[in-house]
Amino acid sequence: MCGIVGAVAERNVVQILLEGLKRLEYRGYDSAGVALINNDALSVVRRIGKVQALADAIDDNNGKGTTGIAHTRWATHGGVTEANAHPHASEGRFAVVHNGIIENHKPLREMLKAKGYTFNSDTDTETIAHSIALIMQTTDDLLSAVQQAVKTFEGAYGTVVMDKTTPNKLVVARSGSPLVIGLGIGENFLASDQMALLPVTRRFIFLEEGDVAEITRTSVTIIDSTGEKVEREIVESNVEHDAGDKAGYRHYMLKEIYEQPHVLRNALKGRITADGLEDGIFGQSSNENADDIFAKTKYVKIIACGTSYHAGVTAKYWLEQYANVQCDVEIASEFRYRKSFVPANSLLVTISQSGETADTLAALKLAKESGYMSSLSICNVDGSSLVRESAISFLTRAGAEIGVASTKAFTTQLAALLMLTLAIGKHNNMSEETNLSICNALVTLPAKLEETLSLASEIEDLAEEFSDKHHSLFLGRGDQYPIAMEGALKLKEISYIHAEAYASGELKHGPLALIDADMPVIVVAPNNELLEKLKSNVEEVRARGGIMYVFADQEAEFESDETMRVVQVPHTYESVAPIVYTIPLQLLSYYVALIKGTDVDQPRNLAKSVTVE
Ligand code: F6R
Repeated sequence: MCGIVGAVAERNVVQILLEGLKRLEYRGYDSAGVALINNDALSVVRRIGKVQALADAIDDNNGKGTTGIAHTRWATHGGVTEANAHPHASEGRFAVVHNGIIENHKPLREMLKAKGYTFNSDTDTETIAHSIALIMQTTDDLLSAVQQAVKTFEGAYGTVVMDKTTPNKLVVARSGSPLVIGLGIGENFLASDQMALLPVTRRFIFLEEGDVAEITRTSVTIIDSTGEKVEREIVESNVEHDAGDKAGYRHYMLKEIYEQPHVLRNALKGRITADGLEDGIFGQSSNENADDIFAKTKYVKIIACGTSYHAGVTAKYWLEQYANVQCDVEIASEFRYRKSFVPANSLLVTISQSGETADTLAALKLAKESGYMSSLSICNVDGSSLVRESAISFLTRAGAEIGVASTKAFTTQLAALLMLTLAIGKHNNMSEETNLSICNALVTLPAKLEETLSLASEIEDLAEEFSDKHHSLFLGRGDQYPIAMEGALKLKEISYIHAEAYASGELKHGPLALIDADMPVIVVAPNNELLEKLKSNVEEVRARGGIMYVFADQEAEFESDETMRVVQVPHTYESVAPIVYTIPLQLLSYYVALIKGTDVDQPRNLAKSVTVE
């Protein structure tokens, strides 16, 4: 989704801004722009399409400035046009970039038009630029103007403003959209994601909700939501600088698929051995002790979106089967707008790769006001809003995920949720045998994933048969049903082939009507107690002329024939089978997308981090 970069320095900042934007490309966008102040002159350059198009449009005349802001836009209000791209300017003096949505932009627009301001775009953001200009008629302090302006905004914003008459200054405000200040030596920066600034600094201040800040070359002044001046902690980032490189792979997605054994080892390191879970591995950001909370937990509510939601659905099977605790899973955007009941001793678990998903954050906020005993976030980004706002946090350690389609974040979430199952199960009569079996399964999982990745060429070959298809069905049962859902999501996201997932027992209740030779049916078939049931479902498809692609356990006795192509997946422990079977489905969607020639890492219309509702 939208990205922001800003810099105030003694040197020309244009390359810092462009490099920052390039490092944010993975978040998804449709246009880009930059505004620079050079000797009291303001220049704005904007282009639709890639950051490279913007870079190509920059020359010696418009590409100089010691203070600047830049933006990648993912359209919400107003189509994908150059006029709607950020930065937006007012009076040729103020320039603004903005992530989020100003929900009351219509009345603001009317009010500003009545005051004589002319709008040049259809965006909500332009109301910020003119609002600042209007307030600056009565003050000469940009910081105080921004403080006054944000009081009139409803909705979410991470915004940055500059004024060509005070050229060595940026003023930023955060509410519902993340912003991070990067500290340099004699120069300072800011961005919506630390990734943008790693080439120039590793020292960051994460702004909090309601903060407004003034950034100059040598100072950072932060005012909190109560109007008090505050000092915020400086955090040294340990995110890998080169996380933005493809390391020889053709796409980030492929790199991230292959990284899974390695990141899973990291995710398990120091947390689990074949003998059991280590103590105190669920971190806490409040006075609560995680293990005490788990001991009291009688009900688990999981909230997430997209792929993270699928991890949650898988965990429901595990928590109820192995940890003997009731669990429900809900999509964050649904949960936040309905009345729900909170049983006694309920633990809220949010799952998110980015930790900045607007719906998940809103759901957490609501849940904290509704009587949950405690909140745990399972998240990939340390210091993210979700981690900071949850009582307990558990980092998935997947490393930066750049491909829009989530892969390694998902499998590390699943490993984290299996560890949570052990941590809660220990207080709920989980047998020693189950405990040890899950521990062994997790400890041996990275090697099992390596073995599974060796199926790549077989799957690449199989993908050829999909390239002319328009629809597909994914089938699974039990804890493989959410894996089928995730497989379908991956395929539709990056290959644009319509894919639906069903619990295979549901076939005869409707979807069987769709079966014909043009509708490939993908089946995940581990060797578990539901195998025989699944085999009956496979026969139902075969009897109706369906063509199947079955990812089956080596011992499940499926054989390829004219209606069924079988890929044998290494035999594995039942508890980790959902993680193992995720790999072939990721590879399948990747290779299908490759054949179709889609933009694998930045699929159309999608954003990596969904920071607006
Ligand atoms: C799909 C995908 C999305 C995200 C969803 C939630 O590949 O990546 O469905 O899972 O937008 O994002 P996070 O996990 O960052 O909250």
